[in-house]
Amino acid sequence: MVALTQSRDLVAFKQRRRNNVTDGVLRFGSVEEMVRSLRPSMPVRCFYPAAIDAAAAEFIEGFPGDILYAVKANPNTAVIARLFGAGVTRFDVASLQEIELVHGVSPDAFMAYMHPIKSRESIHAAYHTYGIRTFAIDCFEEMHKILEETQAATDLTLVIRLAMPDDMAHHALSKKFGAQADEAVLLLQDAAKVASKVGLCFHVGHLCTDHVQYRRAIDYAAKIIEQAGVELDVFDVGGGFARTFPGMEASALSDYFTTIKDGLATLHLPQGCKIWCEPGLALAADSESLVVRVELRKGNALYINDGTYGSLFDAAKYTDKKRFPVHLIRVSRKASQIMQPFEFYGPTCDSIDHMPGPFVLPKDAREGDWIVIGRQGAYGSAFRTNFNGFHDYMSVEIDPTLPARRTTRRKLTLTTPSQEIQEQ
Ligand SMILES: Cc1ncc(COP(=O)(O)O)c(C=O)c1O
Repeated sequence: MVALTQSRDLVAFKQRRRNNVTDGVLRFGSVEEMVRSLRPSMPVRCFYPAAIDAAAAEFIEGFPGDILYAVKANPNTAVIARLFGAGVTRFDVASLQEIELVHGVSPDAFMAYMHPIKSRESIHAAYHTYGIRTFAIDCFEEMHKILEETQAATDLTLVIRLAMPDDMAHHALSKKFGAQADEAVLLLQDAAKVASKVGLCFHVGHLCTDHVQYRRAIDYAAKIIEQAGVELDVFDVGGGFARTFPGMEASALSDYFTTIKDGLATLHLPQGCKIWCEPGLALAADSESLVVRVELRKGNALYINDGTYGSLFDAAKYTDKKRFPVHLIRVSRKASQIMQPFEFYGPTCDSIDHMPGPFVLPKDAREGDWIVIGRQGAYGSAFRTNFNGFHDYMSVEIDPTLPARRTTRRKLTLTTPSQEIQEQ
């Protein structure tokens, strides 16, 4: 604990303590209350447990099968635990680290190792230490690795990953992974000889905004199933379900589900065949927002304290496609009602640390304002690096059911990042 010599620091510290709940998680009723209370000088990840519950309920009610959360989207233990509590008890894992993480949160969780290319060590540990029996493959070499590392186990489920056309989503995934049609047929036939169960999976691509693409994918998969002549135990439609972002309209989740149900009805799958999906973004996107502070304004460029090398990699990668909703918080005075577009620069010295937006904010946005960046729960904090030393951030939880707290309107002395961490 830092020595609190200045009385103003002491006031700030006591105020933080009043908001602190006993299990060590800082909770606030709203992001505005958090900013007024903490005046944070480092980026703040705000976790919304209720958003996880809502997204899980949407999938559980609407999707005609089992939901496997793609852990890569947000490997935060609070997200995994909340999903498990909300009824999403199955997980698509891509590495030994993700397996250990999920196992640590819930040893009873079902895990499927869906990365098509895995290290031998991780296959061995997944099977022998963590009891994982389901593995994705997209080539014969990987099938042999799995058979060797499991000593030709007789209880394997091998799921063949089928490559998809690359025009189905904003970010195609099938250039890197997936068997082409002919090889997928042969893989299914061979897998049926050596595995206890076989499946077929695909990924239509990340940010598949048009639900009709799932019907295209299912119709394509139908041909492979027919040619292979293999009875499937698992049919997995993968991830890709999108959410709407400024400038990028996505289908409603209910439309994806209806399209998938209609497509499945044409497949004549065996009765016991399990239907799976592996959503990442659609389950996690709303579970976090990011609060950044404006450090400087130059024209219409705002220099903020997080960026491409922090939680905002996607804001640079997708540029005009996935712009993220934003709003401004100013503690002392009201901001202008007139809005205008801005671009953001992050804190590192690299010029690719640039998020072109446009992000629409009050025209008088300036140093010292905070900006809340929404839909940051998927592929946000998961991408953080330590580059340039800008790795510190705070985490708080937002629970709108908490009674509103009184926060001082007086401007508080800003503390250094390390003080903030120690005082939590
Ligand atoms: C195998 C697999 N499943 C699921 C996902 C999650 O995809 P999304 O976040 O687009 O739903 C990914 C993302 O890369 C993936 O590679």
